[in-house]
Amino acid sequence: MTTADIVDAPTLEHFTLTRDKQGIAWLCLDMADSAVNRLSSGVMQELASVLDHLSAQPPSALVIHSGKESGFIAGADIDEFSGVNDAESGLALIARGWRLFDRIAAAPWPTLALIRGHCLGGGLELALACRYRLAVDQPDTRLSLPEVRLGIFPGWGGMHRLPRVMGPVAALDMMLSGRSVGARRAASVGLVDAVVPPRLARHAAAQHVLGGKPPRHAGRLQQWLNHPQVKPLLARLSRRKIDKQDPRGHYPAPRVILDMWVQHDGNPLKAPEQIESLSQADTTRNLLRVFHLQERLKDFGRHAQADPVQRLHVIGAGTMGGDIAALAAMKGMRVTLQDQDRQRIAQAQGRAADLFRKRLKDKRRIQAALDRLVPDPAGHGIGHAELVIEAITEDADIKRALFRDIEARLKPDAVLATNTSSLSVTDLGSELQNRARLIGIHFFNPVARMPLVEIVSTGTLDDEARQKALAFVHQLDKLPLPVLDTPGFLVNAVLALYLLEAMRCVDEGLGAATVDQAMLEFGMPMGPLELADTVGLDIVHDAGRHLAGDNSLPRCLSAHLDRNELGKKSGRGFYVWAGGKAQKGTAGTPPPGLADRLIGALIDQTEECVRHGVVDDADLADAGVIFGTGFAPFRGGPLHYRASTQVD
Ligand code: NAI
Repeated sequence: MTTADIVDAPTLEHFTLTRDKQGIAWLCLDMADSAVNRLSSGVMQELASVLDHLSAQPPSALVIHSGKESGFIAGADIDEFSGVNDAESGLALIARGWRLFDRIAAAPWPTLALIRGHCLGGGLELALACRYRLAVDQPDTRLSLPEVRLGIFPGWGGMHRLPRVMGPVAALDMMLSGRSVGARRAASVGLVDAVVPPRLARHAAAQHVLGGKPPRHAGRLQQWLNHPQVKPLLARLSRRKIDKQDPRGHYPAPRVILDMWVQHDGNPLKAPEQIESLSQADTTRNLLRVFHLQERLKDFGRHAQADPVQRLHVIGAGTMGGDIAALAAMKGMRVTLQDQDRQRIAQAQGRAADLFRKRLKDKRRIQAALDRLVPDPAGHGIGHAELVIEAITEDADIKRALFRDIEARLKPDAVLATNTSSLSVTDLGSELQNRARLIGIHFFNPVARMPLVEIVSTGTLDDEARQKALAFVHQLDKLPLPVLDTPGFLVNAVLALYLLEAMRCVDEGLGAATVDQAMLEFGMPMGPLELADTVGLDIVHDAGRHLAGDNSLPRCLSAHLDRNELGKKSGRGFYVWAGGKAQKGTAGTPPPGLADRLIGALIDQTEECVRHGVVDDADLADAGVIFGTGFAPFRGGPLHYRASTQVD
């Protein structure tokens, strides 16, 4: 606020409204008792009263902005959606937002959304209702309509306005995928009027909102594509794409969004039957459940009682260590990367450069990230890092020898972590002077893509070390899952038994492609045998031996290993691999009950883990299996699935 501003409506809880000397009303959303802005019913009610107030005393213009460091608006209040279980309450919730944003769109004075940081879901729909939008040029400015990922649709005007503003091709892509765009991309596709530097944002907003420019809308061709008679053509193409991605119709929301755009110009109030069917669909409930599980995992990181890690040292620049180091450097940490083989460090730097180019785009930010990733073959960084992660070869003796060698060089309060996937963390720490500092931080491959990280506690772990590890995983924007130090922890223990069961089906005479087909139909992103080939049959064999014992290993697995067929990495396993792809041929029709049998093995093992306290409760087990294995999210998690279908 500047000294020239006067407070316009002092009794608001979530907003402040001021008026400057040009008569511009500045409406700042700073939701009470929350770190982020959400469009809860309380906030929406207050927004309505602000509009009443402004109608009575019209400003020269209205600028809506955020008072939160965290961003503009994170969307609607998901808990309010979760409470919707009939058509009537669904319709009421949608009507409230739709009408309120319509009032903004119809305001007689120019309106502008000044977007800094995240602008998601209902937040973007509010911005779309404004005449103008400016995006502040900073890395965390991201705009999206992610509703489809929750099994719902953007019902507050987004489906109606987005295709008009940026054209239906790009708009459908955003709405059907839930993908976000950054500030510059938003400007280049016409979603915002311009990108402004943070320092000049307020000035630019004042100038723009009073500038009298016509509002932006899509070019001629795109407008033509939004014409009622042309829409069905584009819709057919989109439907084909949806059918390809989800041939079994597990996810209804994208089809509903498309229908609402074609038939009702994006107005859900004209399609109450669609609201009813979606609000009662199991998929919607399960996806909302998965959202809440995700928030619960995020909270472990958000609430960690530790300062962020500034200096990280990684030992082992192979597949995992190299990629962990790259990700940490991308997220702003200073990282030293050690390996006994200099070439592995150089290769890791090359992969890091690819990652930075893909994710950061901006040249200066790419260079800064490269500068933060320092090759360190001699391990000088060990003495400076708050966290040292070991990701060397999976061999307990070699790992213990490394720990013996480096322990005296660690800073007194440094945390030591291992990325082991199958060894006992407790056992690895047996020769340490200070066992309380050793923790497992278990990433999944590929590091940049897999959202889950298991945080493995031993009986001697110090809570400060645990908090540090949680904070670190949060810095990487990953989901930490606390687990106990038991064989395979949660995810690999569950996966191993599921993969072994799939292999037993092959022993019994079924084709690999047929077994995989059963699980694809269930909704898994990849069949178990293709997954086993991808992970490596040697690794599955080792994990299986630990968990199930030598005697119960499937014959086909041993046969492949006898022939040195390790899966994808050797070019042959359950499949022949060419160009990075499994050559599957045609799959036979899976016999009835096959999916239940395989999923039954997975669920049994998940239950076993809960019984043994590997994770604290059933919800955390579901969360771990969903985010660690890709378990069909629309099923709500393995234990939830069993409880809701009583499959044994
Ligand atoms: P990798 O074989 O790709 O890399 C290991 C690296 O460690 C090599 O570059 C090697 O030169 C280096 N190294 C070995 N001994 C060393 C020492 N004493 N000092 C310095 N460098 C040394 O192995 P990968 O796959 O990256 O696995 C590393 C760790 O991560 C293992 O514990 C593995 O179980 C675990 N892990 C692996 C996953 C995967 O999918 N590859 C997934 C999750 C965990």
